Amino acid sequence: MVQNRVGVVGFPIEHSLSPVMHNAAFKALGMDGEWLYDAMAIPPDIADYAVKEPQRHGYIGLNVTIPFKQKALEWARPDEIARAVGAVNTLDFRDDTGTNTDVDGFIGDLQAHDVAITGEKVLVLGAGGAARAAVYGLVREGAEVVVVNRTMERASNMLFQLTISAGIQGVKALTLDEVVDWKPSLIVNSTSAGMYPQVDSSPWITGVPIPQGATLYDMVYTPAKTKLMQQVESAGGRAIGGLGMLARQGAEAFKIWTGVEPPIDVMLNTLRTELSKRESQE
Ligand SMILES: NC(=O)c1ccc[n+]([C@@H]2O[C@H](COP(=O)([O-])OP(=O)(O)OC[C@H]3O[C@@H](n4cnc5c(N)ncnc54)[C@H](OP(=O)(O)O)[C@@H]3O)[C@@H](O)[C@H]2O)c1
Repeated sequence: MVQNRVGVVGFPIEHSLSPVMHNAAFKALGMDGEWLYDAMAIPPDIADYAVKEPQRHGYIGLNVTIPFKQKALEWARPDEIARAVGAVNTLDFRDDTGTNTDVDGFIGDLQAHDVAITGEKVLVLGAGGAARAAVYGLVREGAEVVVVNRTMERASNMLFQLTISAGIQGVKALTLDEVVDWKPSLIVNSTSAGMYPQVDSSPWITGVPIPQGATLYDMVYTPAKTKLMQQVESAGGRAIGGLGMLARQGAEAFKIWTGVEPPIDVMLNTLRTELSKRESQE
């Protein structure tokens, strides 16, 4: 009998990859008789039910996704990471805490790919929630970070928020032209440019040279190879897609709820299989 329920709340939720990933992990470890992960669509006008109802029904914890990630800061005691990035994606009802596993998922995947971070010059593209998590994680690990965003004002605003929430100072918002001469060793794409169905889109402005020898980490995971990844590879650089980050942010939540070491390879392979299944159905 299932004794331990976890899941994801959001709206819409039917495309979430989390149930298949977590349930495959439970199965691989022989925990599927006791643990179950499911997806719950909660309309935004009844947002508070997103947490009250599952909690009332004995859920251990939840993942929280769009549009509730900011609202979820009020649903539990946010830890330092959640406060820094201004969003919660994982709740644990047993101790009433909320965290954001995107940061460790991102940094963990860079480390798994042997990408140097400490002391490196890193260009972060974007100024949304993913960019804020990236900047926070990279600065925490000792990188020198510069942000470029299509809308400059939004980048300045994100950096102001990071100063208030995490005391981060000295990160500049620049234009792409200004950054090329700075020669970053790592470029992180935290924009949604290039994500399906806008597969022909890239956040890199045509005519601006791609820095020689730079590694790209593209948080976009569908398609597996984005236009920007192709551009970087054509310029002789290394390009890594965002699927590993997705698996690792889920794995961090799995560890919080179960206390068990998550089977990363199972989670990663399940995501790969599920995404190619969905691609072939389109
Ligand atoms: N791999 C993972 O586990 C993982 C985790 C989190 C997020 N992500 C991915 O990261 C991406 C961003 O997520 P988010 O939550 O931060 O989204 P968001 O808050 O909506 O921010 C979107 C960002 O993309 C920029 N952008 C959108 N279209 C663009 C274009 N055509 N050219 C240049 N910039 C463009 C926006 O610039 P403006 O400010 O100018 O509009 C903004 O900075 C998504 O693709 C998401 O799937 C992946």
